[in-house]
Amino acid sequence: MTTSHPNVPNDLEAFWMPFSSNRAFKKAPRMIARAKDMHYFTPEGRPIIDAVAGLWCCNAGHQRDEIVAAIQAQAAELDFSPPFQFAHPKAFQLATRIAALAPGDLDHVFFTNSGSEAVDTALKIALAYHNIRGEGARQRLIGRERGYHGVGFGGISVGGIVSNRKLFGGLLNGVDHLASTYDRSKQAFTRGEPDWGGHLADELDRIVALHDASTIAAVIVEPMAGSTGVLPPPTGYLERLRAICDKHGILLIFDEVISGFGRLGFAFAAERYGVLPDMITFAKGVTSGTVPMGGVLVRSAIHDAFMRGPEHVVELFHGYTYSAHPLACAAGLATLDLYAREDLFVRARGLEEKFGDAFQALRDLPNVLDIRTIGLVAAIDLAAIDGSPGLRGYRAMEHAFHEAGLLLRVAGDTLVATPPLIISEEQIAEIAGKFADVIRAVA
Ligand SMILES: Cc1ncc(COP(=O)(O)O)c(C=O)c1O
Repeated sequence: MTTSHPNVPNDLEAFWMPFSSNRAFKKAPRMIARAKDMHYFTPEGRPIIDAVAGLWCCNAGHQRDEIVAAIQAQAAELDFSPPFQFAHPKAFQLATRIAALAPGDLDHVFFTNSGSEAVDTALKIALAYHNIRGEGARQRLIGRERGYHGVGFGGISVGGIVSNRKLFGGLLNGVDHLASTYDRSKQAFTRGEPDWGGHLADELDRIVALHDASTIAAVIVEPMAGSTGVLPPPTGYLERLRAICDKHGILLIFDEVISGFGRLGFAFAAERYGVLPDMITFAKGVTSGTVPMGGVLVRSAIHDAFMRGPEHVVELFHGYTYSAHPLACAAGLATLDLYAREDLFVRARGLEEKFGDAFQALRDLPNVLDIRTIGLVAAIDLAAIDGSPGLRGYRAMEHAFHEAGLLLRVAGDTLVATPPLIISEEQIAEIAGKFADVIRAVA
């Protein structure tokens, strides 16, 4: 395909797009050239309202002046400094600020560049922690069906999304999965946390009985499963997981790559649920999506266990060339400032009810099987077209972008909304109205 428009690449072949239907896209590209606040703009200048904060990450909205200025200033001051054995001041500042936002003694931050790296880092820290304490037999990792923990080998091993796993060989040894927390027959059209399902955490006891606690290193779950199509945790579920992990000396990791930084009305979902995990993985919202960054928050006892032996020796043989990159740290600091100045997490909490109302009102539209709303998140399950799972969802995404001026996300035939936390009440109504139009259009 060629075009004379200056903002559009004139050859679409070379770029192999991630998690995309490349051939369908290249026949009718959904091209984005610019953004501001709640909107994207196509190369032709057509506005597209962003119902998904880019990809669950631009929580402060797009092209915020303060973040842009911080990135520009940082690029002009320090482009890169080596993170192994050297550091720059903003890395420490940002780690301190993130630790201050986190509950309990989650006081230490290991920086990565993505959520996937954060997950693999947390799993490695868990294994190494048990090892250095003389419990090296604790090697088993427990994830959950329908969980998404990025695309590294660790993440897809503990993850439970079949298409992300099935083509990639044997994966990590010694991984078990809890059952998914979703049962439509018991939970359909729930707002917030479903009442049914807390008991499913007790499966962990069954897994422990099978393998013995002495072989199990860690359990990792998303407090709210996101990528699979949004599954809020049943009431009491996370508390029960915590109690069972405590009983058996198993570390509990919350993957908060999408639930962190305000999505559920708190800095972290751990705070919303009053459950303190041993590690939290984060990414996305930490820089409001502007510069790649992720990380792991680690409780003091775990961190401190590594801080022994001769002082010149590296304590953890792990890290990335771009861990705590100066541009990402500058963006992160400006982002956290903006979250604080505009009180965006509390704002999200205040909008939860209106957001839930607007989306739950769509339940009588054609093909709607379930709607789940929590925080500033909504998911609408549509009935699949016979024999073509995912086709209705794909059509919805296409129609939304090309016809309705709406960016939404699909997981199969589930339509998802997770807007920037700056969304206004009028824009909630606008987005819900556009979802309704899209659902009718693909009926
Ligand atoms: C819960 C969770 N963990 C990990 C990841 C992976 O993050 P990344 O795409 O930055 O590697 C995601 C991405 O959506 C996620 O939702």
